[in-house]
Amino acid sequence: MFCFQRLLSLCLLLVSVQTFAVAQGVPQKIHLQSRVAPVEATLRRRALNPVTIPLADFFLGTDLQWFGNLSIGTPPQDISVVFDTGSSTLEFASTLCGAPCNPQVKFDPSKSSTFVDGGSTSSITFSTGHVGANYRLTLRSGRDTVAIGNLSAPATSLFLITDQTAKFGIDPFSGIQGMGARAQGLFASLVNQGLPSLFSLYLTPKAVGNAELTVGGIDNTKFNGSLTFASQSSRGSSTWTLTSPGLFVNGKSTSVLKASRNIIFDSGTSNILFPTATANAMYALISSNIKPHASEPGAYGIACNLIDTLPAVIDIAFTSQSGQPFNLTIPSSELNVGPFSDDPTICQTLINAFDGLSLVGGSVLKHYYSVWDVGNQRMGFAAI
Ligand SMILES: *[C@@H]1O[C@H](CO)[C@@H](O)[C@H](O)[C@H]1NC(C)=O
Ligand SMILES: *[C@@H]1O[C@H](CO)[C@@H](O)[C@H](O)[C@H]1NC(C)=O
Ligand SMILES: *[C@@H]1O[C@H](CO)[C@@H](O)[C@H](O)[C@H]1NC(C)=O
Ligand SMILES: *[C@@H]1O[C@H](CO)[C@@H](O)[C@H](O)[C@H]1NC(C)=O
Repeated sequence: MFCFQRLLSLCLLLVSVQTFAVAQGVPQKIHLQSRVAPVEATLRRRALNPVTIPLADFFLGTDLQWFGNLSIGTPPQDISVVFDTGSSTLEFASTLCGAPCNPQVKFDPSKSSTFVDGGSTSSITFSTGHVGANYRLTLRSGRDTVAIGNLSAPATSLFLITDQTAKFGIDPFSGIQGMGARAQGLFASLVNQGLPSLFSLYLTPKAVGNAELTVGGIDNTKFNGSLTFASQSSRGSSTWTLTSPGLFVNGKSTSVLKASRNIIFDSGTSNILFPTATANAMYALISSNIKPHASEPGAYGIACNLIDTLPAVIDIAFTSQSGQPFNLTIPSSELNVGPFSDDPTICQTLINAFDGLSLVGGSVLKHYYSVWDVGNQRMGFAAI
């Protein structure tokens, strides 16, 4: 999910708290150590096999987010989370949260013999870029065993939600597991126990189903052809970012669209975000009837009876590790993200204007099998 820029200090604060906790407990420099590590350590580092878990689709007329289960505590309590490559921490509803969290399944720390209270309170603000409204969580730090499939990470840093804004009430999941590009928390612990340092997402449209997350590997049964890998723009950043040399809409480009830009990959966000000038240039190649929607800053729309016939193929160009150009393509069917609540005759369009960054998410990822290779700081894609 996307942290709004004006609140970045809040997000950074949260990340730095967790980074500190991880750095204390878990050696991170796996690759530097491997050349000199004793044989036993090498064997131990290879001890964990990949695990695949099913993901459910949060669908409200359009595919929004994909979520699956973690088990927290001893004995384990099942808690569903969005696996969010756009954030880095783990937070979920708890019994410390009263009425605001009643729609969610809550984790009860008093029923876990391994839970340790961390004693600090913070808050984090997300936006999905979908409805323009902010989502705020109030959090209490702690540690407990976190398990995914049959893989278990003891004493993992996490945050219990103690209050949340009403916007979270509709979510069919209890929390968010950050899957940023720097190993932290659950993922760092598993890698340190010997899981290969990558994960893969098979995010499908609701009608296709069978979405899944594989931690520690690649499910080759989910795609034909080969994966194309591209290197992270900035090694060691917690943000998944690739550099794009240009954008095309319906096969055409313009001087604004030909600019090189860094594009963030955020599995927790469904719409795509581009600076206002870029969004306007893209819409100009689709239809002059697409207009900003006054009540939701950054959102655009068009009469619902016009939208489904519009050609709106978006090609985002990238360069592979071997220097070959390739496109990630968003088909026209993604343009319509559904009617606005304040005017159901107007349908919102996929691209939101947001100055200062470019970000893509589910609307691209559900057309590719994606590999998020933390260890090698690269991303891989194969068409599905
Ligand atoms: C998560 O676990 C619950 C039961 O604890 C189950 O009903 C649900 O289907 C699971 N969700 C997914 C996506 O596997
Ligand atoms: C976990 O399950 C996978 C299959 O999903 C299996 O290959 C692996 O050996 C299991 N790992 C452990 C630690 O039991
Ligand atoms: C791979 O191609 C075969 C033959 O065209 C097709 O039957 C199968 O569904 C494809 N598998 C995937 C995962 O796309
Ligand atoms: C990417 O898409 C553009 C526009 O459709 C096209 O001109 C270009 O050839 C494509 N690049 C590759 C490598 O397929």
